[in-house]
Amino acid sequence: MKLCIEALGLSFSYSPEVPVLRDVSASVRSGVVTGIIGPNGAGKSTLLQLLCGLLKPGAGQVTLDDQPVAAHSDRARARLVAYMPQSISPAFSLSVADVVALGRFPHLGAFGALGDGDHAIVQACLAQTETAYLAERDFLSLSGGERQRVLLASVLAQEPRILLLDEPTSALDLPHEVAFFRQLRTLAAQDLGVVVITHDINMAAQFCDELLLLGKDHTLVRQGDVKAVLTEAGLAEAYGSSLSVGRHPETGTPFVTVPMGKKTG
Ligand SMILES: Nc1ncnc2c1ncn2[C@@H]1O[C@H](COP(=O)(O)OP(=O)(O)OP(=O)(O)O)[C@@H](O)[C@H]1O
Ligand SMILES: [Mg+2]
Repeated sequence: MKLCIEALGLSFSYSPEVPVLRDVSASVRSGVVTGIIGPNGAGKSTLLQLLCGLLKPGAGQVTLDDQPVAAHSDRARARLVAYMPQSISPAFSLSVADVVALGRFPHLGAFGALGDGDHAIVQACLAQTETAYLAERDFLSLSGGERQRVLLASVLAQEPRILLLDEPTSALDLPHEVAFFRQLRTLAAQDLGVVVITHDINMAAQFCDELLLLGKDHTLVRQGDVKAVLTEAGLAEAYGSSLSVGRHPETGTPFVTVPMGKKTG
């Protein structure tokens, strides 16, 4: 059975008269990797927080499994949807293993203690993200890329049906970024839904099934499969600057570049 998050006619402002999202309707579902792209400040992170119920829309609504997202208890929602923020800075010192164990909270019993099964899942998620060697380190002592891989382990430990990831690869080196996106495809093949914000349009073109393109005017400029969304007209409308769309030499999928202009003289 597919699990869907649907946004219908969402509008949102942090302060009156300054719209951050205007009339956005979109849906994401299990088994599909959906990329969210668009310029800085378009409202991508805001949209992700609306989709998981952390923010409430000024107009429109978000449904999870055909019910308003707010109708689910925090615990029930956290078993279905996991959210990885753009960055986190824990206020106190936590080991990497503790950060990953936090992902188990919606599954714990009344006393909140981790059982053998929970510990096994934490270990498996550390192994899956190749972060087991960091388990005893203080999370705050990690590099930016190491933190991102540990945060993925933490949301995987939550065992949700849909993962919402805000720029999870922004600090990763290229091989780790490709490995990360391949892992997202594996998760989708296991029927997990993945929603991933990225500025790496070409990585999104290779690994996402569908894209949502938000524009600088805070509207949803295009949504659909990669070919439908990555057009020069759509990108120009969203970014307000000209981008070229060619073909990836190996896969034939759209490949976006910035025109550098011809050298003169
Ligand atoms: N907590 C907040 N209070 C006030 N304004 C905010 C807040 N969070 C974001 N904004 C503003 O809302 C707009 C959209 O922000 P958002 O973080 O959703 O953009 P984004 O598309 O994720 O951008 P980026 O690519 O830079 O991460 C921006 O103009 C931002 O300054
Ligand atoms: Mg953002």
